[in-house]
Amino acid sequence: MDVGRIRQDFPILRRSFYGHPLAYLDSAASSQKPTVVLDAEREFYEERNANVHRGVYALSEEATDAYEKARERMARFLHVRDPQEIIFVRGTTEALNVVAAGLGRTRLKHGGRVITTVMEHHSNIVPWHMLREPTGLDLRFVDIDANGRLKLDEYDSLLDATAKVVTLSHVSNVLGTLNPVREIADRAHAAGSLVVVDAAQSAPHRPIDVEALGADFAAFSGHKTLGPMGIGGLWGKSELLRERPPFMGGGEMIRSVHTDRVEYADPPAKFEAGTPNVAGACTLAVALDYLERVGWDDMASHERALLERAYRIAAERFSGTVRIFGPPISDGHESVLCFTVKGVHPHDVATILDREGIAIRSGHHCAQPLMERLQVPALCRASVYLYNTPEEIDRLFAALEKVLTVFAV
Ligand SMILES: Cc1ncc(COP(=O)(O)O)c(C=O)c1O
Repeated sequence: MDVGRIRQDFPILRRSFYGHPLAYLDSAASSQKPTVVLDAEREFYEERNANVHRGVYALSEEATDAYEKARERMARFLHVRDPQEIIFVRGTTEALNVVAAGLGRTRLKHGGRVITTVMEHHSNIVPWHMLREPTGLDLRFVDIDANGRLKLDEYDSLLDATAKVVTLSHVSNVLGTLNPVREIADRAHAAGSLVVVDAAQSAPHRPIDVEALGADFAAFSGHKTLGPMGIGGLWGKSELLRERPPFMGGGEMIRSVHTDRVEYADPPAKFEAGTPNVAGACTLAVALDYLERVGWDDMASHERALLERAYRIAAERFSGTVRIFGPPISDGHESVLCFTVKGVHPHDVATILDREGIAIRSGHHCAQPLMERLQVPALCRASVYLYNTPEEIDRLFAALEKVLTVFAV
């Protein structure tokens, strides 16, 4: 994989901050966008802009056609046979809210157990918390071991006859742990539970096969996957989508509306009330094409080499000062590297790195239960993607030397 060539596709990477070229190590928060994606968004508005599913005129039909082709593209990405099982949403957060709210009015109406994990992003915790009061559901969290892997024996003990939903991230946005989703899903199904997969951190790095994962619902965000903000995908098995009540009411999601009753359209329309983000959907399709052209396997080995380099430098030069969280690279650790620097608050680390042109994230990473579990107030997070270079990893650690000097650690 020619990273130098790839970087030329990302105009923002030409920027400098404080006299240093930008080293963007925050793709887990949001990825940068290649020119083809930027062009696609513009092209949609220049050539195809009209509302979808409404007009009988040619331009509206073109827009509708492009939107539905984007749905087919997303279905291929998720290895889904029926594109009608794909719902366009704003992102993972909206997708998980759609799922939780729907289940809250059906399967979980009278309570039952929802099993999630202590490593989840708030978007896979809060929607379930919101159901506790109206349904009385019993929300349980699977703990992690010292390496940041889920304790599967604990999961088994939680998976009793009251368990109705198991919901977890494919890859943790903090620990980088690649969870054994299939194994977890098989056990959940055997116990009569549904499985919801948050693929926000895996979809940017690998094609997702929802069937192979054993999911009943899966969600991802376009903006972390080289696509624009405000678009993402929710997949659900068609029989489950049919059973669920809609999330929002409005135009496009109905078959008929009367003064005394309303009949809903079939999925996906039932879950896409109002004018959708058509440009976003079409542009995301272009982003997925781009990733496929780069090649998932090449990208994965490139990212792995970057993480291995980071681990090696940390072990050789920072053994008493930089602590890395999550499993070893050889044991299913993907794309994100969370760490602390001894005696220095993560916000201070990130601020000093910023002055070196290095963008990392610091804070609780929308995973406060995990911060509590790890007994840390916050963490630094460097995350890598296809456009990052070994030199950027070296710059990260050179800047960490400075942090240690400034704070006289
Ligand atoms: C694991 C995980 N789930 C969900 C989300 C929420 O994604 P979004 O903000 O795009 O809805 C994120 C975002 O960082 C994430 O990392």
